[in-house]
Amino acid sequence: MIDGHTKLAGVMGWPVEHSRSPLLHNHWCRVHGVNGAYVPLPTRPEHFNVALKGLAAAGFQGVNVTIPHKEAAMRACDRLTDTARRAGAVNTVRFENGQIIGDCTDGTGFCDNLTAHDVTLSGRALILGAGGAARAVAAALLDRGCEVIVANRTMERAEAMVAALKGGEAVEWYDWPNLLSGCSLLVNATSLGMNNKADIDWKPLLRQAGANLCVTDIVYTPRDTPLLIAAQKEGLRTVDGLGMLIHQARAGFRSWFGVDAEVDEATFNLLAASLR
Ligand SMILES: NC(=O)c1ccc[n+]([C@@H]2O[C@H](COP(=O)([O-])OP(=O)(O)OC[C@H]3O[C@@H](n4cnc5c(N)ncnc54)[C@H](OP(=O)(O)O)[C@@H]3O)[C@@H](O)[C@H]2O)c1
Repeated sequence: MIDGHTKLAGVMGWPVEHSRSPLLHNHWCRVHGVNGAYVPLPTRPEHFNVALKGLAAAGFQGVNVTIPHKEAAMRACDRLTDTARRAGAVNTVRFENGQIIGDCTDGTGFCDNLTAHDVTLSGRALILGAGGAARAVAAALLDRGCEVIVANRTMERAEAMVAALKGGEAVEWYDWPNLLSGCSLLVNATSLGMNNKADIDWKPLLRQAGANLCVTDIVYTPRDTPLLIAAQKEGLRTVDGLGMLIHQARAGFRSWFGVDAEVDEATFNLLAASLR
């Protein structure tokens, strides 16, 4: 029940109807007995700055920021965490003592999801993609001591990304299948495979994978992406992207509502059902 003490948070996006964050955070409020509410905040790009300041002024605890506002949020914040600066984007904001503080939780969420699946983060990771999510993932893996290789369809973006991160190596897109044998982790951080679009035949590209390669996809619609299905057919270990979505949300929940949210089967089932 919402009353005069209810703590408020939400997600700013345009559009925002597709976001599963309200479902997730309100579920956590319920199961953890938090007097909180999390609402969708459809915000046009031209209104982003004024809306963000307005939410801070109206007593919100903070917000998530999604497409297309992640870079604008970086500029609008008074302070950024080191992680947000390295990721070059903000997805989680907290309002504190009149300040707007921006963080990026995608990289930590990605790593926490793999760790929760008992994947050891070490050795050489091959990341496909050089967009916003790929950069957060690359930064997190570099910070955990992994060797990072980045392959992107547009080579210049991969080069710019490793230059900004001061770590990792950019390689040509056509070359990544030849580099697989030395890798312990393959990450699809492109939008390939989203919504079951059969944009690429992954099977022949995985031929050089070593038996210990773990394949993970950050695309989670569908959970079993074409890459993960191809990897499973090759007998490789796979981890889907839904857990990243759940784990990345925990930092925001903690900072707004003061509780460590549980990532359990009920949480997975709730989100998985909403994706069907
Ligand atoms: N699981 C989670 O919690 C989570 C979190 C964040 C994002 N995501 C998902 O991650 C995906 C990427 O998000 P983003 O924000 O990084 O997007 P983005 O900034 O738009 O980047 C898209 C990336 O995909 C590549 N790409 C697109 N079409 C391609 C194609 N046909 N062939 C090869 N590469 C292609 C782009 O390459 P170019 O540079 O050559 O265009 C770029 O590297 C989205 O599906 C998003 O839903 C998941």
